[in-house]
Amino acid sequence: MPEAVQANAHICAPAPLSGITRALISPRMPAPVTRKVHIKTYGCQMNVYDSQRMADVLAPLGYAVCDAAEGSDLVILNTCHIRERAAEKVYSELGRLKKMKANREGMMIAVAGCVAQAEGAEIMRRAPEVDIVVGPQAYHRLPQMIAEIHRGAGKALDTEFPVEDKFDALPAASGAQGPARFLTVQEGCDKFCTFCVVPYTRGAEYSRQPAAIIAEAKRMVADGAREISLLGQNVNAYHGEAADGHDWTLGRLIRALAEIDGLARIRYTTSHPRDMDDDLIRAHGEVPQLMPFLHLPVQSGSNKILEAMNRKHDADFYARVVDKLRTARPDIALSSDFIVGFPGERDDDFEATMKLIREIGFIQAFSFKYSRRPGTPGAAMPQQIAEDVKNARLAALQAELIRQQTRFNESLAGTVQSVLFDKIGRYPGQIGGRSPFLQAVHCEGPASLIGQIAEVRVIKGAQNSLTGELMRANAEAA
Ligand code: 5AD
Ligand code: SF4
Repeated sequence: MPEAVQANAHICAPAPLSGITRALISPRMPAPVTRKVHIKTYGCQMNVYDSQRMADVLAPLGYAVCDAAEGSDLVILNTCHIRERAAEKVYSELGRLKKMKANREGMMIAVAGCVAQAEGAEIMRRAPEVDIVVGPQAYHRLPQMIAEIHRGAGKALDTEFPVEDKFDALPAASGAQGPARFLTVQEGCDKFCTFCVVPYTRGAEYSRQPAAIIAEAKRMVADGAREISLLGQNVNAYHGEAADGHDWTLGRLIRALAEIDGLARIRYTTSHPRDMDDDLIRAHGEVPQLMPFLHLPVQSGSNKILEAMNRKHDADFYARVVDKLRTARPDIALSSDFIVGFPGERDDDFEATMKLIREIGFIQAFSFKYSRRPGTPGAAMPQQIAEDVKNARLAALQAELIRQQTRFNESLAGTVQSVLFDKIGRYPGQIGGRSPFLQAVHCEGPASLIGQIAEVRVIKGAQNSLTGELMRANAEAA
């Protein structure tokens, strides 16, 4: 997971009015003036999706998304609370924005996302320049909050978990995004891993209804999407209630989405090993649109640490899930998350993690030093690990993971991969995209291929990307 992702900034076409915005813009009001909103996104892909939806919700009020905070009327920091460093970055960014605000009358600053949820009013105490604090379950109410401030309410704060379905209150997503999109199908988590703030910031597990997801996916495809990544904090625990009253699992949802004409690629993230049910595993072998790459966090290879983390499985269980996946889809490649230095982790526990990494093999991974998060059980555990031990373990673990990643990328030299092109490359005449394994791929090719899938012969694989040459333009085999 990147530490900070700049929101996919674009000028939004005005989206259809939702009930909320319709109520705020009366028929006699002049057309909304154009204002600028800058959204800076930290943390996970769900925050990237949420930032896009915030832009959609604000478009009818006349807000156009712009790239820079400078000159914006509204700056939203869509924040991440998962590790201490992620949360601290928000406060240093607020310090920068405070100076900007002093020189721009009427500029508003909003803090959204998980720091907003976790810290609430404390943010305004620590950073009085903040006008709005809005949690991840309440951002559909942003227009109301802005209107309240314009009416002179001073500041606005909403960190409720409202009973209404946030997704129903949001306008349809606007266009002008790339061919690879995110679609939130599930939010929240009931697992309560002892290191993690998500069950507190995102709340209990909630699954959207299949009909709403399918309708949103169809709109995305009609708007140029070729790939959809289904998002959820615990996405494979998905259990959406269908019109007939039955619960759909993620496997069933994926099979239904695969029926959409023009949707060439499906992915899902992030999964918990315990929720990899047999039908979902079978789908990997049966649904060609499901890409052969899965992010399946394991966190540790030590059974003692896995238990202390409340992961509800041991290392052997994880290995068995991977075996089943590889039986269903032999070319499936894995990525994972790892935490080093969880309280009580001894050298032999860390060695067990290294052993698991060597035995399973990962083509990509995110690894972190344990970060003590207030309010989580891990923060109060004895035997916290010294920083220098964490540093040494992280370095050793990352060296092995980088070795594996580089080896896999190099092994693809000479193979032909289907690539979904989504951008102009860094050099003239170059375009860039993603392989089925989510690797970045660069090659020479026409800009007209952006938004399409074409076959590329890989010439060279390096640590972070593949370089290749186009085989046959517009080949549609994913
Ligand atoms: N410290 C370090 N890493 C953490 N993660 C979640 N909470 C913490 C924490 N307190 C990592 C886990 C998770 C990923 C999203 O972030 O590896 O899978
Ligand atoms: Fe956090 Fe994932 Fe554990 Fe849920 S399953 S508590 S989101 S690490």
